[in-house]
Amino acid sequence: MESKFHITKTNHSRINETDFENLKFGTVFSDHMFEADFKDGEWSKGVIRPLENLSFHPAMVALHYGQSIFEGMKAFKNVDGEPVLFRPELHAQRLNKSAARLCMPDFPEQEFVEALKALVDVDRKWISDVEGASLYIRPFMFASESFLGVRAATEYKLLIFTMPVNKYYDHPVSLIAEEKYVRAAEGGVGEAKASGNYAASLLPAKLAKEKGFDQALWLDGKEFKYIQEVGTMNIFFVIDGVVVTPATDGAILKGITRKSLIEICKDMDISVEERKISIDELIEAGKDGKIDEVFGAGTAAVVSHVNRMKLRDYEINFEIKEDGISKKLKKQLTNIRTGKVEDKFNWVVPVPSAILV
Ligand code: COI
Repeated sequence: MESKFHITKTNHSRINETDFENLKFGTVFSDHMFEADFKDGEWSKGVIRPLENLSFHPAMVALHYGQSIFEGMKAFKNVDGEPVLFRPELHAQRLNKSAARLCMPDFPEQEFVEALKALVDVDRKWISDVEGASLYIRPFMFASESFLGVRAATEYKLLIFTMPVNKYYDHPVSLIAEEKYVRAAEGGVGEAKASGNYAASLLPAKLAKEKGFDQALWLDGKEFKYIQEVGTMNIFFVIDGVVVTPATDGAILKGITRKSLIEICKDMDISVEERKISIDELIEAGKDGKIDEVFGAGTAAVVSHVNRMKLRDYEINFEIKEDGISKKLKKQLTNIRTGKVEDKFNWVVPVPSAILV
């Protein structure tokens, strides 16, 4: 089967220079990218071509007014050595939700999934056999028009590139509740995967590091009372044997790993609740010895264990339990993705090979 996209392959693959055992997240890129442009009210036919630098006009709208969104997803190698995507249609839908919030055009969902399949197929050799390895996929859309005025742009670019990755966090994570800055408020753009959300998180993240913590734990923007997320991942607590995660409220990213873990909990008969969780409830539960585990969930982070948390003046440490719920959930998620257990949810989408089919 021929790809529906025009594909230009690189003559200079970097794959043989790549040390797959030692990948620093975000620094090593595979060979190709997908590109489509929106102009005069429609998207161009997408192409796949060698990954390279882009040139742009200094007045490009995305640089000035932040009309820029992205997705983060992964391709895995299954037990038969074939690449698969995980819930790509949900990423297509979320990209378009983010686009709508930032007044950007929809990208056809079917076309998006086909672009992912074609791109992953072309760079399928970049998914290594290292334990836990995957191909991180970064689709993003930005206003590419050269125009200096505050209105929605009329021209956009959608690019997708990929990176071979191993673990995002190579150690358990420590968190400090942020009591001065906010990541997002209801009615804002917190639910969108807007680039600016991540820019706004950098200073508090730097301050958290200076205090000896890996990441800020965000509280709501109104009362600084309710737990939101971590920014690089959604947050889960196991309180008295029940898995609890903040209900999405318009200011919290609707994580696809988050959603999948909730669904896995229900399937495995693990009690799970999506609801408001206040910092006071957590402090009290911590003091009563009722917080069994804390973990983050995200595409990059997968399931990342939290071993220390500072909530106002209260600090709590956690042992990572080998037989804990978070390890069970991580294992089940990984096994579904790689085909080690039955994918009864139909989450896994094979990437057909244009060469073999
Ligand atoms: C992801 O998990 O894919 C994200 O976009 C988070 C980012 C901090 C890597």
